[in-house]
Amino acid sequence: MRLRLAGAVLLSAAAYYVYLPLPSGVCEPWKLMLLDALFRSFMQASDVAHSLGVCHRVHLLNQVVSWVEVIEARSCPAVHVMDSTLGGVPTRVFQPKGGKKLKRGVIYFHGGGWALASGRMRSYDLLCRKMAEDLDAVVMSVDYRLAPGAVFPDQYHDALAAARAFLSAQVLERYSIDPERVCVSGDSAGGNLAAAVAQRLGSDDSVKVRFKVQALIYPVLQALDFHTPSYQQNQAVPILYRPIMARFWLQYLGADPALEPLLLANNHSSLDQSAIGRKTRSKLNWTAWLPAERRKHFQPVVKETGSPGVLDKVPGLMDVRAAPLLAEQEALGRTPKAYVMTCEFDVLRDDGLMYARRLQDAGVAVTSDHYEDGFHGCMVFAFLPMKSGVGERSMNNYIHWLDQNL
Ligand SMILES: *[C@@H]1O[C@H](CO)[C@@H](O)[C@H](O)[C@H]1NC(C)=O
Ligand SMILES: *[C@@H]1O[C@H](CO)[C@@H](O)[C@H](O)[C@H]1NC(C)=O
Repeated sequence: MRLRLAGAVLLSAAAYYVYLPLPSGVCEPWKLMLLDALFRSFMQASDVAHSLGVCHRVHLLNQVVSWVEVIEARSCPAVHVMDSTLGGVPTRVFQPKGGKKLKRGVIYFHGGGWALASGRMRSYDLLCRKMAEDLDAVVMSVDYRLAPGAVFPDQYHDALAAARAFLSAQVLERYSIDPERVCVSGDSAGGNLAAAVAQRLGSDDSVKVRFKVQALIYPVLQALDFHTPSYQQNQAVPILYRPIMARFWLQYLGADPALEPLLLANNHSSLDQSAIGRKTRSKLNWTAWLPAERRKHFQPVVKETGSPGVLDKVPGLMDVRAAPLLAEQEALGRTPKAYVMTCEFDVLRDDGLMYARRLQDAGVAVTSDHYEDGFHGCMVFAFLPMKSGVGERSMNNYIHWLDQNL
């Protein structure tokens, strides 16, 4: 009897821990809740270790991730897999065996807030393996350096160096990649790096080989407005809670983590910040860029007065290499044909939707693929035991788009 009672108490405690009210419309909410509980428990454990001074929370998280998730480079009958380097940056290479002589090529940047994860993780390994096999393409998954050990612009420079090497005659020849059919892609923070690299190389006349397409999966593209409708709507939706995204940004930009409340208050983009001119503001003016069905009832949060000096302290907030949405229209116009995937239940939804609109305005052909039941990270969690329907659907559509357009 007592045992049964204890069991019931334990079960309800577990259910209480896991249960989270989610917006109706999320694909398979119980799976997302479980994923969230898993993430939260890892986060809480690493917060404890951090405050005890054992080690930095991110190091511990990455340690856990690598125990649980990182796998060896293992070839399979269809794909040869090996760990190598690209422009000096560690990279896992997926090479389809046999097939046509010249292959399509994809350079991929994984997500994880510029601080977590690796291209050698099971989920990314499986994604790239599938892309290599389904597209008969050589896929290179880049392990750029991570925060807090490396901060902006290190991640960006690694991504750029790897991309330049990828497009070099030497690498294209060595892997039999068709120079006319190369793609840059990535998800979340990796989508940020992919967009930034596409902009930089699009405006560099010394680069002979051009990317044919860019494919951005729920990319993070700006840090000046933490009150876009999607930030407001999804601030408490797992797994990318609004404060966590602000923390990732500060960490990436090498800034004081104590600035988090300031960022969340939009104090860094108040009207008295003279560094942000009209033109810059217009680039992320969501009242102009977003359609009514995404703006909904949400109101812009623009402070008259904020926290002066913060943009001098954290110049990365205004740096287009960190925030690709701040690019000039001409720079956007020199980037390749684009695929932008966004999810309704994601704080970053409007970053992606605004970018897609701005690319279109700049004359770039854009496929905007929006998932009404999607949540941040769903595509990569398509492989975990709790793989979700929307994850699988979006992954298949992404690969299908590449097949049609690359
Ligand atoms: C944003 O766009 C709206 C609608 O086009 C416009 O009324 C408003 O003045 C713009 N705001 C800024 C800061 O550019
Ligand atoms: C934001 O700015 C206002 C006005 O300067 C200030 O009173 C407030 O304390 C600031 N909030 C944060 C979180 O820094």
